Amino acid sequence: MSTNESLANLLKEERRFAPPAELAAAANITAAAYEQAGADRLAFWAAQARRLTWETEPTETLDWSNPPFAKWFTDGKLNVAYNCVDRHVEAGHGDRVAIHFEGEPGDTRTITYAELQREVSKAANALIELGVRTGDRVAIYLPMIPEAIVSMLACARIGAPHSVVFGGFSADALATRIEDADARIVITSDGGFRRDKPSALKPAVDEALTRPGTEKVRNVLVVRRTGQETSWDDERDVWWHELVDRQPDTHTPEAFDAEHPLYILYTSGTTGKPKGILHTTGGYLTQTSYTHHAVFDLKPETDVYWCTADIGWVTGHSYIVYGPLSNGATEVLYEGTPDTPHQGRWWEIVQKYRVTILYTAPTAIRTCMKWGDAIPAKFDLSSLRILGSVGEPINPEAWIWYRKNIGADTTPVVDTWWQTETGAIMITPLPGVTETKPGSAQTPLPGICATVVNDEGTEVPNGSGGYLVLTEPWPSMLRTIWGDDQRYLDTYWSRFEGRYFAGDGAKKDEDGDIWLLGRVDDVMLVSGHNISTTEVESALVSHPKVAEAAVVGATDATTGQAICAFIILRGCASEEETSGADAPGGLVEELRGHVAKELGPIAKPKRILPVAELPKTRSGKIMRRLLRDVAENRALGDVTTLTDSSVMELIQSKLPTATSED
Ligand code: WT7
Repeated sequence: MSTNESLANLLKEERRFAPPAELAAAANITAAAYEQAGADRLAFWAAQARRLTWETEPTETLDWSNPPFAKWFTDGKLNVAYNCVDRHVEAGHGDRVAIHFEGEPGDTRTITYAELQREVSKAANALIELGVRTGDRVAIYLPMIPEAIVSMLACARIGAPHSVVFGGFSADALATRIEDADARIVITSDGGFRRDKPSALKPAVDEALTRPGTEKVRNVLVVRRTGQETSWDDERDVWWHELVDRQPDTHTPEAFDAEHPLYILYTSGTTGKPKGILHTTGGYLTQTSYTHHAVFDLKPETDVYWCTADIGWVTGHSYIVYGPLSNGATEVLYEGTPDTPHQGRWWEIVQKYRVTILYTAPTAIRTCMKWGDAIPAKFDLSSLRILGSVGEPINPEAWIWYRKNIGADTTPVVDTWWQTETGAIMITPLPGVTETKPGSAQTPLPGICATVVNDEGTEVPNGSGGYLVLTEPWPSMLRTIWGDDQRYLDTYWSRFEGRYFAGDGAKKDEDGDIWLLGRVDDVMLVSGHNISTTEVESALVSHPKVAEAAVVGATDATTGQAICAFIILRGCASEEETSGADAPGGLVEELRGHVAKELGPIAKPKRILPVAELPKTRSGKIMRRLLRDVAENRALGDVTTLTDSSVMELIQSKLPTATSED
């Protein structure tokens, strides 16, 4: 099977969805934006920068004199927190709700822009009292509570780059990140609510701070969220409600250079030492603000926006904090899991706040599919007008399910491709412009230049596959890897001369639309054929019995690699079916036959193993490296970036020793 045939298979149903006429008529962005940006890319970005309020307007758009080290809007000065908060209050929108907070236990808080301004000012004053100065790094290790957003904005306000560490990470992961960023302050909480129980966070901070390399942390600022018992170091630990609450609620923001560091965020990375991705101020805020306005068609007066990502992930940074708040949006912030106390919790939240724009991940969509159509059907989701997806390729099956069951078969779905490194959305349909194709991210945004190249770096023609590259610098691009310029050069800029290598496989269809095919490390080589894990997974999930699938190539004496599929069965799977043992013969043959029909006989999995859960990173990405370890009978590698490390124990303990059958 050639990759082109399989793409043709993927596209065979040729489903296309035109933008709803009403949405198109009032859309923030029309097709003209592509023309404007095409005619003069830098002028286009200079115009987008004027969405922001600058203390000193930039005169230079891009300084690319020392590639790949970019400087955008370099002589401009601005304050990010002022742009996300104060200017909306000054414009008369102080009473507009910024955040509808929904705690997992059902407690709520409504925070207006005026209140947010006071909270951020108090937190900024508190950090200053703790001796934080411009340029000092602050680690943030918090659950999904308003203080997470307030802390990030307080750091931005005083020019202290933050390093947010996902609350699900271990003490070890936290310690390495504190050390690498050389943080002086850690902001955390006693705990957060998760699955109906308080789940402690502070003990992980206490443990992390016993590790060598973290000695420079002077203070730990602790939010009281759960009220659980917490060990205390009187010299070092400070309660948020004691320090922050007594601060003056005004603070005058200072303008910083456009290239002042805004934050470091360590990539979820499925392999190797985490990379501290550095984002700066002016270009980052320009592109997050523009893309949030364009891709979600945000109307700040009427929309209620909800991004379900965690704040510890770049989606949380760009599309919970900086993009939406710079645009004066009203948004929902939810602390807990989608199935607490019941599997309709998300839809209940959509109904309660009349959410109009929802941005989530394919893994969550597939989980909801698995729970069944009846659950969202119980709620009034008619307020929704745009649905977004991010994090991994969305298989057409899930895309269609999302549109049909959540979007009443009318709401556009925007599949947004980007990375921690790109800082903001890069390739996506526009809801009022693009005729969408389920499973494809389709088109680089206005002002973004992306294409697909072959091994030699030559652009491939329509209908062919290869590697995704970005051919021009963009405003929200990473500036380097923190403390390691060489690794920045090697990782992204050395594979193809003068172009950014994203690490993703991609194809262009006959119309030139881009289809993402997963990380290139995940491509399998079976009897001399390149087969993408994404496509086999997509084929498996298109079978009615399969809810989720993770496919890996395991070393095989005959074929080089053999396809091994881990699947989650849909609906009420029996205990036997999820035992982790090879699937019963009948089901295996049925699924193999189905994949052969969808993709060709070469793509038939050699082994199919039903499991109860799949190992995923915090951003919902399957850790194929670990599944390969299982499929190849090896001891497990590093599991510290898994959201739930017990998943692997479960899979492994129940697996028979993998001997090759068939
Ligand atoms: C990688 C980046 C972007 C924020 C969340 C993840 C994959 C992301 C898509 C998409 C296909 C996607 C890519 C990318 N990815 N969005 N719409 N279609 N693949 O950030 O953890 O830095 O991961 O996620 O493989 O390179 P990240």
